[in-house]
Amino acid sequence: MEQKINIVELLEWYKIVGVDEICGAAPELTIQQSTNKAPELSSSMQPSVRPAITTLAQTTTTACKNARELCEKATTLEELKEIVNSFEGCALKFNAKSTVFGAGNTKAAVMIIGEAPGADEDRLGIPFVGRSGHLLDKMLLAVGLKREDVYITNVLPWRPPGNRTPTDAEVAVCLPFLKRQIEFIKPKVILLLGGSAANALLDNTDSISRLRGRWLEYFMSDKTPIAALASFHPAYLLRNSAQKAKSWSDFLRLLKKLKEN
Ligand code: URA
Repeated sequence: MEQKINIVELLEWYKIVGVDEICGAAPELTIQQSTNKAPELSSSMQPSVRPAITTLAQTTTTACKNARELCEKATTLEELKEIVNSFEGCALKFNAKSTVFGAGNTKAAVMIIGEAPGADEDRLGIPFVGRSGHLLDKMLLAVGLKREDVYITNVLPWRPPGNRTPTDAEVAVCLPFLKRQIEFIKPKVILLLGGSAANALLDNTDSISRLRGRWLEYFMSDKTPIAALASFHPAYLLRNSAQKAKSWSDFLRLLKKLKEN
């Protein structure tokens, strides 16, 4: 039976799942059989394929530049929060209910950085208040730290639809906001929860299993180093409780560092 497609519903669905680019259904390469010539783009595709790619890259580059320039203008954490609230250069904002800025003790020695708000955080506008947040609270308490003792934030201030992994472009656009937060908090140590936070701040692509459990360094824009420790994300621990022992040793390592001098 033929099924009719409701175009409005379809577009709404695309919006929710984060589709923001329209390209051809398949690459249109004219393969020239029996010759050694390189394949050529068919003439019909030449004008449409390249602009789609460059438009996304250009939009991202412009948004990153805007974010960096705005961050430079912020002279306080409060000003930065206002800037992030009114920033419109990241499409995630338009599907999110809240802008989830960092929260907690602005004079904390420990800054904890997660990936992005989930559904509960998006609803309440506060980082780590859902199931992952409850586990994080318990892990902190186990080493004698309360939520009021730390400052908690995320790489992204907006929830990606369906909690999908953020794209490189989304991370790149939002990173200046996170880096500026670090400059205002000036923590003694940074705890990076999960691969997205670790890769974004340590500027590498290693897996969290490789990065976790040893002291690394994050460099602020003036090159001041801050001790950084990567560990598993609580959401991962909720699904893989066998890894909790490794997280426990990471949290003990954190505690030891805090007690040094
Ligand atoms: N996961 C995160 O990475 N951050 C939150 O704030 C909540 C869940």
